[in-house]
Amino acid sequence: KIPLWIDCDPGHDDAFAILLAAYHPSMELLGVSTVHGNSSLVNTTYNALNVLEAIGKSNIPVIPGASQPFCRPSATAEAFHGASGLEGTELLPKSARSVFGRYNAIEEMRKVLMATQEKTAWLVAIGPLTNVALLFATYPEVATHIKGLSVMGGAIGNNFAQVSLGPSAVENGGTTLPQGGVTPYAEFNIWCDPESARGVFQNPMLRPKTVLIPLDLTHQACAVAEVRQKLLNGEHGATRLRMMFHELIMFYGSSYANDTEIKTGPPLHDALAVAALLFSHADSTLNIDILDNGQEKWNIDVVLEGEQIGRTVIVPSTGQGSIVPRSMDMDKFWKVLGQCMARADKV
Ligand code: BDR
Ligand code: CA
Repeated sequence: KIPLWIDCDPGHDDAFAILLAAYHPSMELLGVSTVHGNSSLVNTTYNALNVLEAIGKSNIPVIPGASQPFCRPSATAEAFHGASGLEGTELLPKSARSVFGRYNAIEEMRKVLMATQEKTAWLVAIGPLTNVALLFATYPEVATHIKGLSVMGGAIGNNFAQVSLGPSAVENGGTTLPQGGVTPYAEFNIWCDPESARGVFQNPMLRPKTVLIPLDLTHQACAVAEVRQKLLNGEHGATRLRMMFHELIMFYGSSYANDTEIKTGPPLHDALAVAALLFSHADSTLNIDILDNGQEKWNIDVVLEGEQIGRTVIVPSTGQGSIVPRSMDMDKFWKVLGQCMARADKV
């Protein structure tokens, strides 16, 4: 099994990432830390607790982390996720767990990750990167110890093509960047705390272990009507759990329909950052390791000032670069998500 820790800001798509990690037979979800982002830290923490309660995994630790970005004012994504960060359903249970003021997220991440066998565990970061930057700044040995870091964030656009275009991609403006970002240039998770993101991407220890899942990829994973129907109707029909997830998708989908050109269903961004580990490990018939399969490698940087603040810029790396997948087997992704939903539905 792949041991993993999720750092998140639930968040509709975060909820699906948690479902996948908690119910895939090849994964062991060690714990969940929360961060400011889609809503306040208090809200994202309750949302994480409630999602785990809903899927019958209230034994998994939830530890609140940073309530603010490293050096910028907090921002939230209410337009997409609603006031609580996880609006749209009355079916989400309320967890009775109290987790505030008990443990320190950075300490717990270090303890739990360092207790895994060397170079086996993954950290999956699906919110702003404040906790992640703090973890590796405080305990660099964790970067040496883990197998990899999977981050949902960024938007690449024509920057992907810069090998042939030359280094003019940034000058080309944001025109070919995928929509749905918080600005024409920047994706939300990176834009919220660009300094932390830059620190993480530029860390030489982490660079060869980092997989970045940008909007370019996640926009290939929209929960369209056919997908929604399959997720809603299981062996036992549209159960309470399936209804809850369906309502979450519908809410998130209407946010997208109102605010973007994506009208047919919302991208489940964060779940792909978990799936990226699966399809390259035990579940893959090819048994390919995502960090070592001859993919193109990139040096990822983040714009820290000006109009393009929060933009991720990638430059081809000849040395130890990071992976930014351009595609994924989306049929397989939906199938695996459906299987995890079915497993959760039995509990
Ligand atoms: C990312 O931003 C958040 O709103 C989502 O949860 C996801 O992590 C997509 O840009
Ligand atoms: Ca998120």
